[in-house]
Amino acid sequence: MNATRGRFISLEGGEGAGKSTLLAGLRERLEAHGVDLLLTREPGGTALGEAVRGILLDPAGRGMCAESELLLMFASRAQLVREVIEPALAAGRWVLCDRYVDASYAYQGGGRGQPVERIAGLEAWACQGLKPDLTLLLDLPVATGRARAAGRGEADRIESEADAFFERVRSTYRARAAAEPARFRVIDASAAPADVLQSAWQAVTPLLGSVS
Ligand code: TMP
Repeated sequence: MNATRGRFISLEGGEGAGKSTLLAGLRERLEAHGVDLLLTREPGGTALGEAVRGILLDPAGRGMCAESELLLMFASRAQLVREVIEPALAAGRWVLCDRYVDASYAYQGGGRGQPVERIAGLEAWACQGLKPDLTLLLDLPVATGRARAAGRGEADRIESEADAFFERVRSTYRARAAAEPARFRVIDASAAPADVLQSAWQAVTPLLGSVS
């Protein structure tokens, strides 16, 4: 089969940044443009990954050490890359992923203090060199995001972290975006949902060149 390889877009952001709303909006627009789209998420997206997600987010799992957390994130990711993302891209489908490897740098690196070289080593091993063509970063002050997320019921294990943790997550995301401006588009997530979608769409449209 000689399908043109699909495009890979990841979506990142802190708690309450509006990822779900943006994902739904992007899906609608991409499909209207004839893109064969696969939507997936991390951690999760495979049977193994969804089971791992349950372990990672379970509020009862308070004793989980940072090393186990990091390895579980990459266990889910290794499976997703091989079972879902790579085959879809090879078949010409586009993949829109709710979080990818930047989240490990932000949460396990910035948030938990795991060394960046350790994460880079796991990335090299687990991700087979797969990088997004585009990463959309929904950026929002921590207090605003947390206030938005507060109405969603019981916080999961990671959502229960202190503000300082999420400040480190945010600054790591922003630093990664500044270091790789060609891959990242930083979007002000405090804007109205329609404006957030429009900004994201402006970043996505150049990728449509390869689609009819
Ligand atoms: P979400 O569905 O709200 O994005 O939940 C996923 C949670 O997992 C979120 O708190 C971010 C966290 N996470 C990490 O800490 N590291 C990772 O590599 C990924 C993919 C997610």
